[in-house]
Amino acid sequence: MKQAFLPLLSLSILVTLAAPLHAEPTDPLEVRPTLVEPQVSLPTNLVTVPVVNPGEYFVPPLVDDIPDDKTGDMIRWGRNIFVNTQKYAPRYAGNGLNCVSCHLSEGRQPYAAPLWSAYPIYPIQRNKTKTVVTFPQRIQDCFKYSLDGIAPTVDAPEMDALVTYAKWLSTAAPVGVVLPGRGFASIKKTHDPSPIEGEIIYKSRCALCHGENGEGQKNRDGVGYMFPPLWGTDSFNRAAGLNKVKTAAQFIKANMPLGAGYTLNDDESLDVAAYMWIHFRPDDPRKSFFMNRFAPKPGGAN
Ligand code: HEC
Ligand code: HEC
Repeated sequence: MKQAFLPLLSLSILVTLAAPLHAEPTDPLEVRPTLVEPQVSLPTNLVTVPVVNPGEYFVPPLVDDIPDDKTGDMIRWGRNIFVNTQKYAPRYAGNGLNCVSCHLSEGRQPYAAPLWSAYPIYPIQRNKTKTVVTFPQRIQDCFKYSLDGIAPTVDAPEMDALVTYAKWLSTAAPVGVVLPGRGFASIKKTHDPSPIEGEIIYKSRCALCHGENGEGQKNRDGVGYMFPPLWGTDSFNRAAGLNKVKTAAQFIKANMPLGAGYTLNDDESLDVAAYMWIHFRPDDPRKSFFMNRFAPKPGGAN
């Protein structure tokens, strides 16, 4: 599989050398004055957002508002697991990621699948499984695929803590309503995503943080990553949502490069997502070794 891409990669390196780096067209951005400093690890604030009308997105409560009682303790524990899964729930995490690696700003960021837009609409029917899933069952999937790990049972204390945190973030949100900012940004797939174009974008816009080889950068204490890996053994597996080129592009469009969301257009987001996709990552745990190797699904498993 890897060998097949070697000619492609060397070709793309040539293209990288030949093509001058062009300036990406940008969408209008509103930079919140107090938040101009991009935060590179465990951001707690919105960094940049597309121009929005005040009140357009649901505003979750502040960390300081967590009550000072037993429920508050549970919320704080859930938050800790969410932002530092490596430290607070290591036995369930199979790779180097935390929930917050993808659900940015502690699960608050619109269009980074924020928790406040998810908790109030579950249980729902999912396309992936064609069955009705409850909120804890949905969390289990992210443990199994996005964290390439072993999901806590639905009645595990860690699960209770995560659900309590999500419920608290959704304080005063309407129930059963799909709020603006849910999931990821929409994207128009106008061309076949090109990993060759994607590599050029990756090298100029992403490698600085995620590493030349998508390996990310570890924290100084060696536990977890400051900049998470985008592929390789410590990344999400083939069954994760982000393994789909389109879903990854939707995430990237609104959120990456960190602090400069919406600076890649739809085509560029798809190209860089395709470049991520061609690299090695852990197998889909639902499939056999044989099926993983010889029955690949272009564009990713669902
Ligand atoms: C590698 C990135 C990644 C990581 C890490 C990750 N998730 Fe997710 N999560 C996703 C994606 C992508 C989706 C949406 C997938 C889809 O349905 O297409 C999602 C969806 C969800 C949803 C449902 C959102 C909705 O609007 O329905 C919840 C809840 C959730 N994740 C919780 C978690 C928790 C808790 C963790 C940590 C244990 C976690 N996730 C870790 C990528 C990730
Ligand atoms: C300024 C540093 C920075 C740059 C540049 C950057 N990222 Fe990220 N990226 C991050 C951080 C930090 C996270 C995790 C967020 C957290 O933990 O709060 C992340 C998370 C991600 C994730 C989800 C987690 C994972 O490991 O899969 C993807 C996918 C991603 N970035 C893709 C990209 C792409 C593609 C680019 C280039 C277009 C890019 N990033 C540029 C810092 C950066």
